[in-house]
Amino acid sequence: MNKAKASAEADLGRINKIVAEYSQQKWPLIPLVQKVQRELGFIPPQSVPIIAKALGLFPSQVQGVISFYEQLYTKPRGRNVVRVCRGTACHVRGGKTILKLVKQHLNIEEGQTTPDMEYTLETVACIGVCALAPNIVVSDRVHGRMNPKKVEQLLKKGRE
Ligand code: FES
Repeated sequence: MNKAKASAEADLGRINKIVAEYSQQKWPLIPLVQKVQRELGFIPPQSVPIIAKALGLFPSQVQGVISFYEQLYTKPRGRNVVRVCRGTACHVRGGKTILKLVKQHLNIEEGQTTPDMEYTLETVACIGVCALAPNIVVSDRVHGRMNPKKVEQLLKKGRE
């Protein structure tokens, strides 16, 4: 059995266990999909019909809920999520250049994950610390007053 197939089967086992644990609860869908995401790092597409069947829903209803919430992910994400602020304050202080540099360093576009699963790149509207603009957030830690050198240091450090 190849590694990817073995991993997918292990995931299915974990998904079935979580579904069994939550399916008897009163409003189980959201906590159930959150638990799947906590356990696996994302919500694999193959879990949707399993969840739907266990809860007596159509797969499209489960998918609809997953798609509605931005915090629910259907693709694997990197160990570090890099969020570049696209808000106005950051934009006027060079946020666009920071985003371009981050893309170049990681060699990915927005919404993508590096092949080594180290980084996922996202943008956000405003993270609420405009005084430090331009900002980026790496694994929930804010890095303010970004400049090209700081981008390089920050992303190089994560690769060491
Ligand atoms: S605009 Fe970037 S933190 Fe507010």
